[in-house]
Amino acid sequence: MQKKRVIVLASGSGSNFQALIDYAKNNDISYEICGLIVNIPDIYAIERAKLANIPFKIISHKSYESRADFEIALHDALIEMGAQIVVCAGFMRILGADFVDNWDGKMINIHPSLLPKYKGLHTHKRAIEAGDKEGGCTVHFVNSGVDEGAIIGQAQVPIFENDNEQDLAKRVLEKEHKLFPFCLEMVASNQAKLENGKCLIDGSEKIISL
Ligand code: GAR
Repeated sequence: MQKKRVIVLASGSGSNFQALIDYAKNNDISYEICGLIVNIPDIYAIERAKLANIPFKIISHKSYESRADFEIALHDALIEMGAQIVVCAGFMRILGADFVDNWDGKMINIHPSLLPKYKGLHTHKRAIEAGDKEGGCTVHFVNSGVDEGAIIGQAQVPIFENDNEQDLAKRVLEKEHKLFPFCLEMVASNQAKLENGKCLIDGSEKIISL
């Protein structure tokens, strides 16, 4: 079967982007990373794309008058790069319904909390302040709600008494790098599918747990 063309959206260091590249390099799988789009010009994710010989585009949200205009440019770039699956890997822009609806069931995101807990920002700080004993990350299909789409998979980590935000972020990020490629492969191979707003794994409603 032909590999699915994946385009990654990122706004930061791109360690998850790297994990997806490495997994594709080291395993016989159903996707290939065909491009990177960033919305911030000088981020390290771009260096990673250069090192891996992956084409990239910089589409700065600041160059557009409205969110709608930015999203039209983003959509056009995804089409031009031949995207079949869109992966948000630390992409820090909220995307509107008009954009997201075009990629229904074909766009996934990783979020650094055990959703539905701690949507939005500062997830690790909030988990520590709440006295949670467990944190983690979630991969989900993207819909027009913020961090609300159907969950594909989750991975848990312990939170220890003296953890600060950085300790927890580091522990969770290691899990992200395992969970994300695995979930992407499930989507690319059609083992994980979005149907009527729910994620089906091999035909039944469940969540991948690592
Ligand atoms: C990751 O922890 C990811 O879960 C988070 O940003 C970080 C990106 O790291 N994403 C979000 O917070 C999205 N709401 P990376 O650039 O090294 O992959």
